[in-house]
This record gives sequence, C-alpha cells and structure tokens, in this order.
Amino acid sequence: MSELRVLALSGSPRPQSFTHHMLELFLEPLSGSAEVSLFVPRKMNIGPCLGCFHCWSRKTPGECSQKDDFAQIIEAYKSCDLVVLAAPLYVFGFPATLKNVLDRFFITLEPDQLPLEGGGTTHPKRYQRRRRAVLISSCGFPEMENFDLLREHFRIICKHTGWENAGEVLLPAAGAYNGTPLAGTKDRLLRATGEEFLREGRVSGETLAALAEAPFSHEEYRNMANWAFKGSLLEKGKMVALTAKIMARVKKKQKEG
Ligand SMILES: Cc1cc2nc3c(=O)[nH]c(=O)nc-3n(C[C@H](O)[C@H](O)[C@H](O)COP(=O)(O)O)c2cc1C
Repeated sequence: MSELRVLALSGSPRPQSFTHHMLELFLEPLSGSAEVSLFVPRKMNIGPCLGCFHCWSRKTPGECSQKDDFAQIIEAYKSCDLVVLAAPLYVFGFPATLKNVLDRFFITLEPDQLPLEGGGTTHPKRYQRRRRAVLISSCGFPEMENFDLLREHFRIICKHTGWENAGEVLLPAAGAYNGTPLAGTKDRLLRATGEEFLREGRVSGETLAALAEAPFSHEEYRNMANWAFKGSLLEKGKMVALTAKIMARVKKKQKEG
C-alpha cells in the first residue's frame, strides 16, 4: 500500500485533545508509506457553508463563494485515498468544528439527483476516486452505545460521498485514559489499529471490541469521573485507592500476556 495519500481531520476544539492523541497513534504506523495531510480545523479560518449553491451553479461549478482555509482541505481531498475523521463525541454526534468542515464538502457533490443502488437518492461525485474512510472518536460515558448516532452518521456520509467505510476506532470512558495513571494503557492497541489498516485496508470489529474492553466496571468509572470533578481531599483519596486497584488489575493482565 505504498504512496497512500491520507487526508486527516482532527476536529476537537480542545488544544489537549485526547482524540487527537488517538489519531496520532493511528497514523504512526502509516507514516513510512503514506503522505499525510493533517488539518486541525480549530486552528483554521473556515466559515460555515452559506448554502448559496455557488458551487452548484452552471457558471461556477465546484467553486466556493468563500475564499478561506477550506481551500487547503479540498486540494488535499482531490488526490487522497483515505479520509480520517477524528473528533470527540459532542451531544452524541460530531462537534461543530468538524461538522462545519463536513458541510463544506457539499462542494464535492454535483446537483443532479440520481437513484441510489439499493434504494434512495444521491448526487454524482465531483472528484471521482476510490477513497476509504476511518472514523476516530472518544467519549466521556463508559458505554459503546453512546457512539451509535455518530456511527450511523458516518455510515450515511460514506454512502453519499462514495467513501468505502474502512472501520472505526472508538474509545468510550476516555476520561479514564486522559491524564490519569491509566494514560498510555490503550496506546499499543491504538497503534495496532493503524497497523491493521495498513495490512488489511480496514479496522476490524474485533479490534474495536478489544479497544472498548476496560479494566474497570461502568460504576467504577462513573465514580472516578464524579470524584475527579468534585475534587475534595476525600474524593482525591478515594480516587487514588480505586486507581491503584485498577492498575493492579492492568498489571496482572499484562503479566498473563
Ligand atoms: C460540549 C460537549 C459535549 C459532549 N457530549 C458528550 C456526549 O454526548 N456523550 C459522551 O459520552 N461524552 C460527551 N462529551 C465528552 C467528550 O466526548 C469526551 O470528553 C472526549 O473524550 C473529549 O475528547 P477531546 O479531548 O478530543 O476533546 C462531551 C463533551 C463536551 C465538552
């Protein structure tokens, strides 16, 4: 899979983004054989789609009425083989920073409405090319089901952009791995998602399930999250004790191989 061209969008509004860390680990194994164009929309000047249909008019097809930093993203898109959408879960969907960019991808569609194979209606694609797409996300609640709407949205985006859905890298209970003694314990698996993509062209459901496996119960996680935000001495003490218990489980599992 040499000369793979990757367009990666890192959509968290937070400078210390955990999802960005996940993205970096996914990309690490690809770096030797891929050309990666990484964009961080929160640092860019990208206006919202104005819905003016300038890009659909016969006079200016594929031309946006706004001259801003989205031009860099669309240039990279034209020649990319893989699109990576990385963003934290916000209100069970994409955060506005990334949704703003996704709206601007309207420019990649042509105005005609065509019947879609298997039912429904879609638009022809302006920049035809075989492209795969991977979704990367983290969330604050411990259950995997919190990603259901985001995953469905990603699937439907793939269907209408012509991207081949190459899998998802999702981490619930992300608060447990961010700035705690558990930080780094998911890094090897996160790197393995990139290795698997490089080998197989996709991230499998098995890898996703392994990633979601946690060394704590949902109740323990909820306690940790609650204590972290309350932050009294008593809660800090409880947190230290529970974290030590969880770390002992992690080490035991590591020893067992
Ligand atoms: C505005 C906002 C909305 C959020 N909505 C959800 C949500 O719907 N479900 C959830 O589990 N976590 C939610 N979270 C938590 C984030 O998804 C979680 O902290 C994530 O790991 C942050 O990633 P980042 O460090 O890359 O920004 C929300 C956080 C914020 C600030």
